[in-house]
Amino acid sequence: MAKSKKKNVKQTLRLERTSKDLARVLGISEGACRSWLRKEGLGVGIGGRYKFSETEAKRIIRRLQAEHGDMRIAVYPGSFDPVTCGHLDVIERAANVFDKVIVAVLENSDKKHFFSTKAREDMIKRLELPPNVEVGIFGGLLVDFMKKHGAKILIKGLRAVSDYEYECQMAWINNKLMPECDTFFVPTSEEYAYLSSSIVREIAKFNGDLTGLAPKELHETIYGGLNGRCRTN
Ligand code: PNS
Repeated sequence: MAKSKKKNVKQTLRLERTSKDLARVLGISEGACRSWLRKEGLGVGIGGRYKFSETEAKRIIRRLQAEHGDMRIAVYPGSFDPVTCGHLDVIERAANVFDKVIVAVLENSDKKHFFSTKAREDMIKRLELPPNVEVGIFGGLLVDFMKKHGAKILIKGLRAVSDYEYECQMAWINNKLMPECDTFFVPTSEEYAYLSSSIVREIAKFNGDLTGLAPKELHETIYGGLNGRCRTN
């Protein structure tokens, strides 16, 4: 009797103790993990603790992984001041590969942006984006935004070799700050290799043709913003 009790205790996994690790491995919050358990009616709450047999715990982990953990969430950060056809190309290609892509718009920090944060975010939201793309704003460290959204993948577009050195440094720093973070470089399509937000702004300032440079549904907003020389809110 005593022996079987001992075995039973040994075989019991307390998710109370392991849910933090589990959530981190799966890239979801501990709260999400717990609410899933509650929703599924899987928790046997004894003083707020969950007790599962080893087999049961393994099954739960497999289901959680299938529903949450295997989702490959990527973050594509930038100033998008304004978003260009080159950015859109990277967004669409990343969305073909990853389950979810979050376009993260950098909030004004030390960096001076021409368009306001809200205007830059709105311009991207107005585009016809693949259904698995979301748009958000972030300030502070990018890795903190990634953790908040359960993302472990960073997308960076590369135009030329000159971009590579700086982007590699960023990839290493982000990986140092968040070891589970991996950066994927997407070479921009050849037709956009020369394109940048500053080139779009320069052309718009002199009412030049933005066709093929910035998404057409944004031309008026970009011309308006540039000629008014103001931050569009
Ligand atoms: O389009 P940009 O301006 O080249 O984008 C730069 C961006 C937003 C990717 C970069 O400035 C960034 O990641 N800023 C957040 C601060 C951070 O986490 N830096 C890395 C560690 S030093």
